[in-house]
Amino acid sequence: MRALVTGGAGYIGSHASLRLLDEGHEVTVVDNLYRGHRGAIEALRRAGGDRLKFVEADLADTDALARALADGRVDTVLHFAALTYVGESVERPDDYFRVNHAGGISLLAAMRATGVQRIVFSSTAATYGEPAQDAMPIVESTPQRPINPYGASKLAFEQSLRDACAATAPLAAVALRYFNVAGADARGRIGEDHRPETHLIPICLEVALGKRPHLTVFGDDYATADGTCVRDYVHIEDLVDAHLCAFGALETGKLKCWNVGIGRGYSVCEVLESCRRVTGHAIPSVMGARRAGDPPALYANPAAIARDIGWKAKWTELDAIVATAWDWIRAHPRGYG
Ligand code: UFG
Repeated sequence: MRALVTGGAGYIGSHASLRLLDEGHEVTVVDNLYRGHRGAIEALRRAGGDRLKFVEADLADTDALARALADGRVDTVLHFAALTYVGESVERPDDYFRVNHAGGISLLAAMRATGVQRIVFSSTAATYGEPAQDAMPIVESTPQRPINPYGASKLAFEQSLRDACAATAPLAAVALRYFNVAGADARGRIGEDHRPETHLIPICLEVALGKRPHLTVFGDDYATADGTCVRDYVHIEDLVDAHLCAFGALETGKLKCWNVGIGRGYSVCEVLESCRRVTGHAIPSVMGARRAGDPPALYANPAAIARDIGWKAKWTELDAIVATAWDWIRAHPRGYG
C-alpha cells in the first residue's frame, strides 16, 4: 500500500503511520507541525527509513496535497489532521470549521485532481453530542447531535464525504468514530504528547511524574455509579487495527461508518485508581466543578464493527492500556522535547 497520512506527526496519525511502516508499506506524512511533533517524524524515520516521506504542509494547501499524492503514487488516504480540543472549539469555532471541514474539502479536491479515491477518516464520538443516557451504549444509528463546534465540524466532514461518495466521480470512504483513545506504542517508540494536555490519563500520569500537583476531578455528582463521568477507553493499537480492517471495506460510492470503542465504560475514579496501581504513585486528586459539555456516560456498542469487518479490541484491561502510556511518559518526561 502507498498511503498518505494527514496529521501523521500527531498522536493517532503517528501510531497509524508507524504500523503501516512496520508492515512494509510506503507512507507519505503530511503535517503542518502546528501540534504535531518533528520528534514523531524522526521516530517514524527510524522505523521506516526511506519508505517514509514527510511533507510539511497545511491542509489548506491543495496544491501541496496534490503533489504529495502524486509524488507518493498514493492509493489510500488516512485523514487524521484536525483540531481536537472541545473547549478550544467553543472559543475558536471558525478555526475548527476552517481546519476540520474546509481542510477536509481541500484534501478531497487534491484527491480528485490526482484520481485517488480511497479515504479513511478519523471521526469522533463527539459527533453524537449528549445522547440520552438510556441510549447507551451508542450504536452507529444513534442520532448525531453534536453539542460543540469540534463535534459539529467533524460531523460536517462526514456529511461532505457522504456527498462525495454519491458524486459522479465517487469516492470510497470509511469514517471511524473514535471513543477515548489512550495508551502508546507497546514498543515505546512513540507516544502521546499533547500541548496543552487536557486528557484524563496523561494528566494522571503527569501528576505521578511530579509535573502537576494533583488531578482535578471534574464533578462527582453525575448519575453514574460513583458520581464521576464514564468513558470508553480504546487502546491506540486497537484503534490502528480498526483502520487496517477498514481498508478491506472501502467500496466505491459508499461512506461506511463505525464506532471504535471497547464497549465498556470506566469512571474517572476508576481511571485514577488504575493509574495509581500502574505507577505505584499516590496521584493526589481534588474535586472540582463539572466541565461544560461533559456527558455523564459515553460508551460504544462495538457490535457493528465486529460483525462487518471483524474488528475486536484486544486491549480490554484498563491497567494494561495505562501501562503503555506510563512506559512512554516515564521514558519521555518532556514528551518529544
Ligand atoms: N477529566 C477530569 N479531569 C481532567 C481531565 C478530564 O475529571 O483533568 C474527566 C472529564 O471530565 C471526562 C473524562 O475525564 O469525564 C475524560 O476526559 P478527556 O478530556 O480525557 O476526554 P473526553 O471524554 O472529554 O474527550 C475525548 C476526546 C474527544 C472525543 C471524545 C469522544 O478528547 O476528542 O473523547 O468520547 F471526542
